[in-house]
Amino acid sequence: MSAAEPFRNPAVSRQQPNPRRPVRVICVTSGKGGVGKTNITVNLALALSLQNQSVMLLDADLGLANVDVMLGLHPRYNLSHVISQERTLAEVIIHGPNDIRIIPASSGVKRMAELTPEENAGLVGAFSELNDSLDIMLIDSAAGISDSVVTFSRASHDVMVVVCDEPASITDAYALIKLLSQDYGMDRFQILANRVATPQAGRELFNKLVKVSDRFLDVNLSFCGFIPEDPQLRKAVQAQRAVVEAFPGSRSAEAFHRLATQIVGRWPLPRGASGHLQFFIERLVDPAYRSRERTG
Ligand SMILES: Nc1ncnc2c1ncn2[C@@H]1O[C@H](COP(=O)(O)OP(=O)(O)OP(=O)(O)O)[C@@H](O)[C@H]1O
Ligand SMILES: [Mg+2]
Repeated sequence: MSAAEPFRNPAVSRQQPNPRRPVRVICVTSGKGGVGKTNITVNLALALSLQNQSVMLLDADLGLANVDVMLGLHPRYNLSHVISQERTLAEVIIHGPNDIRIIPASSGVKRMAELTPEENAGLVGAFSELNDSLDIMLIDSAAGISDSVVTFSRASHDVMVVVCDEPASITDAYALIKLLSQDYGMDRFQILANRVATPQAGRELFNKLVKVSDRFLDVNLSFCGFIPEDPQLRKAVQAQRAVVEAFPGSRSAEAFHRLATQIVGRWPLPRGASGHLQFFIERLVDPAYRSRERTG
C-alpha cells in the first residue's frame, strides 16, 4: 500500500450528517510516561480518519506540546485563547494529515480548573458547535495520575490505557486504574499493549495486568489490541510524521488500522445524553468531576 492509496475499510461508509449523532470521546492514558501515548493518539486519529471518521485530537498534555511537535506543526494559539475569548475554537484548531483536526490545549488545560461560570458556558458552547461535524474525539493525556488525567478520563466515554512490557509501566497502569476505580467508581478500561514483539506477547502483557487487577480491584479490562515495536515508527518520529502516513505498509501502521477498524466496527456507541460533545465538556469543567473534589 503506498502513501497515495489510503487504507479504506469497506465495511464503513461515510455517515450522513446527523445533528444529534453521538461523538465518541476516548482518553489515551498510561500512568507511566514515554510508553507511546502521543504516537498512538496521532496515528489512531489518522487511521480513523482514513476510515471516513471525522476526528478531532485534543492535546491535553500540560508538559511539552507533543502532538504538534510529533507532526511538525506550529500552532499559534491554544485552548487558553478560546477560554479567554481572544480566539474562537475554529481559529485555534490546526489541521494535520488527512485533515484531522487538532486542538493544542496545553496551557488551556490548567486554566480549565479555574474557569468562571461565563468562561465555562463559553467553552461548553464552543465545543457544542463541533458536535455535528465530529465522530470521534481522541485525547492525548499527560503521564502520571494528576488532576488533569483524572478529569479527562472521567469525562470520556472510553479510557484506553497504554502499557508496554516494563515492570514500571504495568505498576503505573495498575495505579491509575486503581485510582479511577476506587476513588471514582470507573470500572471499564481498554488496554492497549505497545512495543510488543508478537501478538502473543501483547496478550501476555494484558494478562499480567488482569492478574494483578483481578486480585485487588473490581474492574473490567478489555484487550483492545497491540502495536508492535517498529523501527519505522521511530523513523517517522524523527521525520516529525505519523507512521501511518510516512510508512503506510509498516507493521505499526497496519496495527493502527486494525485498531481503528475495531473501534469503528465493534465498540458500542455512546448512548443518550452522554454521547454528545456538550456533555463531555460540561463534565470537564464541572468541579464535581475534578479530583480535588475527591470524596471517597
Ligand atoms: N510501537 C513503537 N515502536 C517503536 N518505538 C516506539 C513505539 N511506540 C513508542 N515508541 C518510541 O517511544 C517514544 C515515546 O513515545 P511517545 O512520545 O508517544 O510516548 P508518550 O507516552 O506520549 O510520552 P509522554 O508520557 O512523555 O507524553 C517515541 O518517540 C518512539 O521513539
Ligand atoms: Mg506524550
